[in-house]
Amino acid sequence: MKKLAVFASGSGSNFEAIATACQNGEIDASIEWLIVDQPEAYAIERAKKFNIPTLVLQPKQFESRAAYEAEIVKQLHEKDVEWVVLAGYMRLVGDTLLDAFPNRILNIHPSLLPSFPGLDAIRQAVRHGVKVTGVTVHYVDQGMDTGPIIMQRAVDVVDGDEEATAAAIHEVEHALYKEALQYVLHRS
Ligand code: GRF
Repeated sequence: MKKLAVFASGSGSNFEAIATACQNGEIDASIEWLIVDQPEAYAIERAKKFNIPTLVLQPKQFESRAAYEAEIVKQLHEKDVEWVVLAGYMRLVGDTLLDAFPNRILNIHPSLLPSFPGLDAIRQAVRHGVKVTGVTVHYVDQGMDTGPIIMQRAVDVVDGDEEATAAAIHEVEHALYKEALQYVLHRS
């Protein structure tokens, strides 16, 4: 069974979908850590339901991003974590973490990359007037939402309705992240 760490900054609905899939055997893995950079993130509450240990670390507690990430790497190594799963983690990953987990960091993004990278991807898509957007799971590299794509799924835009489009996207995210993870873990 593969050992994962999930990183989140906010609600954590993707984290919960993955935790549920690990619990019921849909994904052959266990979540060793939830890593959070925001003490008020709702993801922390979700972790309690699953008895998943949570580590709250804020970059401002460290003198540099490298020092912040070095502490994370140390904690991940202590639990023999092999894969890092970003699920609404609102930071760029730096070299310290990338070098410690080469090609072993995944992210989910709420658009069909390379369209609409960065913040507020759903709003960007709705405002642009595209008729189809979607979800991308990809490997993480130094860039913002630029790494090699693993899986994508299209979602119809509900015309001019950001909230309804977001709801449809989140539903697809929860299914697609599980599939992509199981696919990647199975091949490793
Ligand atoms: C998701 O839309 C994900 O694609 C993006 O951040 C959001 C996180 O949502 N990277 P949640 O915290 O998993 O509910």
